[in-house]
Amino acid sequence: MADSHDSHPATIGVHGGAHDRTPGAPVVPPITQSATFHWSSPADGELLYSRYGNNPNQRQVAEKAAALEGTEAAVALGSGMGATAMTVLAAVGGEGHVVASSRLYGATQVLLRDELPRRGIETTFVDPEEGHWEDAMRDDTSLVFIEIPTNPTLRILDPRPLCAMAHDRGMIVACDATFASPVNFRAASTGIDVVVQSATKYLGGHSDVIAGVVAGPADFVREVTRLSRLYGPALDPHSAWLLDRGMRTLDVRMARHNENAMAVARWFEGRPEVGRVVYPGLESHPDHTLASELMSGFGGMVSVVLEGGGDAADRFMSRLGLAIAAPSLGGVETLASQPRYTSHVGLTPEERNAQGIPDGFVRLSIGVEDRQDLIADFEQALAQQ
Ligand SMILES: Cc1ncc(COP(=O)(O)O)c(C=O)c1O
Repeated sequence: MADSHDSHPATIGVHGGAHDRTPGAPVVPPITQSATFHWSSPADGELLYSRYGNNPNQRQVAEKAAALEGTEAAVALGSGMGATAMTVLAAVGGEGHVVASSRLYGATQVLLRDELPRRGIETTFVDPEEGHWEDAMRDDTSLVFIEIPTNPTLRILDPRPLCAMAHDRGMIVACDATFASPVNFRAASTGIDVVVQSATKYLGGHSDVIAGVVAGPADFVREVTRLSRLYGPALDPHSAWLLDRGMRTLDVRMARHNENAMAVARWFEGRPEVGRVVYPGLESHPDHTLASELMSGFGGMVSVVLEGGGDAADRFMSRLGLAIAAPSLGGVETLASQPRYTSHVGLTPEERNAQGIPDGFVRLSIGVEDRQDLIADFEQALAQQ
């Protein structure tokens, strides 16, 4: 890809990664659906087996992801959780210590809180709203793991002072930026070392593939790749191809997600059935100013808290006709879910309340449909309360 295009996500999305431009070469990279490759000795090069992460389709999306994130390198893996787990293992090495935000995707919390301690990796969680990061850091801390924006309250943490503090102590900062996508938030440009994406969401964009990306310094990505060859979370070539196809339209989809979500959030603000609208693009959001500074778009996620509580949320969800009741996010279709049944099912109502997620909280992943059609759907679902 020509250097002059390096910084434009719309162009990277279409042209990023290796392209064979010789006459007769396919414009769309073919799916290399092969587990193994002709190879008899190291003199034959590095491409020998698709678990190793350098199948042509895996490389294509990895190179595109690195260009989108603005990092030296990236590796595409079989899921967002695979990307998170390999990131933690690569950063910590053996036994060790992680400092993590207490507002993380549910499975990431369980991994850090319950699973990894059984293998000698401890985590101290810090409430990002209180921000006592320094108190949690120990001599054996090697990783700080955060999420921007957080799920489902869409809080934006300023990573810059945290990165400075962590780097002073020789620690790596990794950030799950799935909710923003690299189009809305170029995490690495704020000092974050390693960016984790659940590519299942915006990067793929069509709710038809499970994938993940780790983007960061070349030596870190090399270590993630080494571990992935052992633990095995490789991305299937067909899924890699689907992911690459999704990434070609990432920029235009994000523009539409941003516009639609803003329109929907403003509309919900005027509704008496809605007690609170959570969207970083609204002046009422506690991190609106920071989000305006750090992000080039406020994203497609909008949360609403219905006055009628959990019952009202159940009724609203059951009456949606266009939006689909389903977990996940980032696809072209609008999805709705209640965190009390999904990501935050493991917390008590009191714990959820403390995190700003009372019963009645509905998380919406606003898709790319016509926004008036979406608003009409939300209006009829609310009207029947
Ligand atoms: C913020 C975030 N990170 C990571 C994940 C895990 O990704 P995957 O489902 O691709 O493993 C999810 C999934 O919902 C997520 O929302």
